[in-house]
Formats: sequence, structure tokens, C-alpha cells
Amino acid sequence: MKNILLYIALTIILTSCDKEKFNSDNSTQEPPKANIENLRQASYPIGAAININTLKNNVGYRNTIIKEMSSITAENAMKMNTISIGRKQYNFDDADYLVNFAQENNIRVHGHTLIWYKHTPTWVSNFSGTTEDWKTIMKEYIQDVVGRYKGKVASWDVVNEIINDNGTLRDCIWLQKIGPEYIELAFQYAHEADPEAILFYNDYGHEYSHTRRYTVNHISDSLARKGVPIHGIGLQMHTNINRSVNDLRYAIIAAAVTKLKVHVSEFDVAVNPDKKSITFTEELALKQKESYRAVFKAMMDIPENQRFGVTMWGVHDPSSWLSVNPDWALPFNDKFERKPAYDGILQGIYK
Ligand code: G3I
Repeated sequence: MKNILLYIALTIILTSCDKEKFNSDNSTQEPPKANIENLRQASYPIGAAININTLKNNVGYRNTIIKEMSSITAENAMKMNTISIGRKQYNFDDADYLVNFAQENNIRVHGHTLIWYKHTPTWVSNFSGTTEDWKTIMKEYIQDVVGRYKGKVASWDVVNEIINDNGTLRDCIWLQKIGPEYIELAFQYAHEADPEAILFYNDYGHEYSHTRRYTVNHISDSLARKGVPIHGIGLQMHTNINRSVNDLRYAIIAAAVTKLKVHVSEFDVAVNPDKKSITFTEELALKQKESYRAVFKAMMDIPENQRFGVTMWGVHDPSSWLSVNPDWALPFNDKFERKPAYDGILQGIYK
């Protein structure tokens, strides 16, 4: 019954998307832009993943964040292998730096990520104990980190990338040692440490895989119905200009059907996904702009209380994890100038 209702809701929403696409595709007029001076004035939070060294050393980078971003995520500084150097031993230097910077500049912090199959610290890989012992070390870690930033970090990716492409649970040390229950326990532990924090399941592939999209939404919905303190779905959305804008839109609308908050948590639009030797032409820039517009617009089309925000995975092109390709995936260029993608954002959030 629940699935039928979800299906009906999606059909209604997607029928209206198609109509909208039809109308907009037939229009030769450039859509209007939001009349704002910077992205901090947008009606929902817009942010970026931050590299701490660049934040410390690059004034243009720092100023662009202060001027444009209302939410920041540590690109690497809050990952377990960065913070956890031993049992009950921590290196919070970079994470503290980010949180202090955010507080000084009145910027929201999203924590990324508590539990991930990647980058397990060596002491955890070498740990030996009973199932209860494994629950204890997971609880200690989550609660020490979330507790330290209680009231300062607004939200957390509690679990990240927990499924395989076929929809089964991805192998990780926590699944091996605790079993599937590790997922709900992670949410419970985080919630106990900061009952106000907004807690997410973050994953990728919503925009290109039915199985991944369905499974993430289904797991999130099932946990919420069971009373597990999960509040939102993070859609990483590392996408590229070849992906249809309807796919991007569909991913966001489908997540919203769960009634949980929706965070496009790691957004970027690669223009060189095949890693060829190319230059960044105007044609590519305009194509990229359309992807930006589609995502920011789709967020405007879900209920306001579900719009957690859009976080871009980096600030300007050279600070992107894709810059080695090379690529030009972000809305600011190497001089921190606004690219056409920035106008795409302004068009997307226009009301
Ligand atoms: O800091 C060290 C440096 O000291 C060393 O010299 C250098 C040599 O390789 O490595 C540096 O660390 C690298 C770090 O990025 C900082 O640049 C790590 O090797 C490298 O693994 C790490 O990659 C990060 C990756 O996650 C893995 O943690 C990327 O920056 C980061 O953008 C990427 O982000 C992920 C999200 O967390 C989850 N979703 C996918 C997304 C993209 O892969």
C-alpha cells in the first residue's frame, strides 16, 4: 500500500515536471534570475565543501566563502581517519578550525561523515572484541565527536555510502562486526549526543540508478517509520553535463516523497567526465549552467521545510576534487569570478 501511494505521488509530481520541461524547452526567453547580491541571500542554504589548508592560505577562497556561502561541510577534516588517531584519542585541529571559522562568520556547519566504509583508522581495523565491544567503540567515537560540536555543527552525515549498486548493504567493518543494526545504532548514538542535530543518510547515484535511488529512499523511509532518529537524505550528486536535467530533478523530487529533509550534499557538474584533453568553451559553460539551474530549481519545488540546502563539492574550479582531470565543475572560476553556472543558480532559485 505504502509503495502504491509513493508511486501515485511520484507520478503526479513527475507529470507536472514533464509539463514544465516541455514549456521551458519551447521557450526562447532566458529565465529570470533571483535579484540577490550573493548566494547567502537565497531562500534556502547554499554551501560548499571546504579544504582547510586552502581556507587558511588563500584569501580569495576565504572571502568567497564568507561572501557567498551560508553552509559549509569539511571536505576531509571530519572524516574518521582524520579525527580518530586511537581509541579515545583525537586530532580535532582542522575540524575545530572549520567550526571556529563558521561561528565567526555566522555560517552553518554540516558534519561529514561519521561512519563510512572508507578510511577506517588502523586502530579500528586492528581492534578485536565482541559485538558489544564493537558497538561500544562506535558509540564512543560518534558521541565524542558529535558531543564536542553539540550546538555548533547543525547536522551530520551519520552514515555514508552504505549500499552496493544492486541495493544490498555494502561490506564494511561495522557491518561485519555488528551486523545491519549498525546503521540504526549510529543514528541513535548521534541523536543521544546532540538531540538537536539533523541527521542524514548520505549516498550517491540517485540521479542515474533506479536501484540506488529506490533503495536509499526505502531504507531512509523505513528507518524513519521505525522511529530511528533520521531526519534527511543526502544526495551527493556528483554529476556531469551529459546527464539529463530531468534525471537530476527526478532524484530530488523522489527523495522528497519520503517527507524527510533533502540535502544535495556534494553537488558538482563535470564538463569533462571522459577526461579528454579539452578547453572550457562557452558551449560547455552554458550546458553546465542548465544542470545548475535544474537542481536549484528542483529544490524550490519541494516543500520549504524539506529544503535543507545544496552544498557544492568545492568552492572554485581549482579546489574541486575533479580539477586534476582537468575539469571546471563549480560555479566560480580560478579567479573566483562567477561563471554561467552561477547564473544558473540564480535562475533556479528565482520565484
Ligand atoms: O592530505 C594528504 C596529503 O598530506 C598527502 O600528501 C596527499 C598524497 O596523496 O594526500 C592528501 O590526502 C588526500 C586528501 O583527499 C586531501 O587532498 C587523500 O589522499 C585523498 O584520499 C583525499 O581524497 C578525498 C576523498 O573524498 C577520500 O576521502 C577528496 O579530497 C574528497 O573530495 C572526497 O570526497 C568524497 C566524499 O567524502 C564522499 N563522496 C564522494 C566524494 C568524492 O570522492
